[in-house]
Amino acid sequence: MRDWVMRAADDLHVHLRDDVRSSAAIQAIRLGGSSRVLAMPNTQPAILSGADAVKYRDWLHRQGLDVELLMTIKLTADTTPEIIIEAARLGAVAGKLYPLGVTTNSEDGLQDPMFLAPVFEAMQQVDMVLSLHGEVPGVFVMDAESAFLPHLDEINSCFPNLRVVLEHITTKDAVDFVKKSASSCLAATITDHHLEITLSDVVGSRIRPHHFCMPVAKRPDDLKALIEVVRSGDPRFFSGSDSAPHLIHDKQSDCGCAGIFSSPYHMQVLASIFSRCDMMPRLEAFTSQHGANFYGLDVNSQQICLKPKSWKVPDRFGGIVPFMAGKMLDYELEWL
Ligand code: DOR
Ligand code: ZN
Repeated sequence: MRDWVMRAADDLHVHLRDDVRSSAAIQAIRLGGSSRVLAMPNTQPAILSGADAVKYRDWLHRQGLDVELLMTIKLTADTTPEIIIEAARLGAVAGKLYPLGVTTNSEDGLQDPMFLAPVFEAMQQVDMVLSLHGEVPGVFVMDAESAFLPHLDEINSCFPNLRVVLEHITTKDAVDFVKKSASSCLAATITDHHLEITLSDVVGSRIRPHHFCMPVAKRPDDLKALIEVVRSGDPRFFSGSDSAPHLIHDKQSDCGCAGIFSSPYHMQVLASIFSRCDMMPRLEAFTSQHGANFYGLDVNSQQICLKPKSWKVPDRFGGIVPFMAGKMLDYELEWL
């Protein structure tokens, strides 16, 4: 075990909220080693236009966010090509599509993604990334991601120059689909937690609401496929934490919310996982290069150092239960 100096991370999928949870979510970004974030638009109310995104970005900076924020808008049945063109002009880099009702704040999601074909056409024209929550509404949760892949195939073939990110993939099927795709416009993000847990860690001998997220963690073979594709160094796979804070009573409830709050110790957790899997040399490209390249951004100039040290993750961060609470990690982080 040695010190690892590397570029600070790009967290290319994070939920910063627009309420009491935002203060913890914002503070967590630097602590976890990120210097640029792509903020998701499923706030309440949602970010539906370029003007909403600019307002949200400015609000987050006023709340203390001191890293670069990449803006997104949410795609709904009311999104038009004009909204896309204006959002791109104002600097939004991605449009996020949620299928109907599959996760937190997706009640305005789509049953059929191709309903938005004219919107995809406009995104392709202005080179805005399509960010996809890839699950089919109503399908059994363990199969919902695999069932989405034919829809992704259709989007890729109808819009060959549209850059698409299949977010927070959880299955071997999704890994294989992206690996086998001939498209240079397709990539996938992988979360910290999907590199660590399976369904048994959510509903094994005990129910663990703080491990519940969507898409839900899958089988050991799926976890293995995710680890192995990261080990392979394939540049189409990069880090997006999907860190999604919820208040404790919203998680520990009769009808609890999906979401895992991983950003406070994002790079410390990843370093511990990568080190245990003997793939530390792959970490920097996964968190700080592949995603920047896909989004056409310069790589971060700020650097962090991951130092070997055994320490225990606190039970709470800003009143919220962080990922790996009470567990031992193998690295601490310092900004250089
Ligand atoms: O677990 C999740 N939580 N998955 C999502 O797609 C959304 C997120 C949230 O916003 O809480
Ligand atoms: Zn998300």
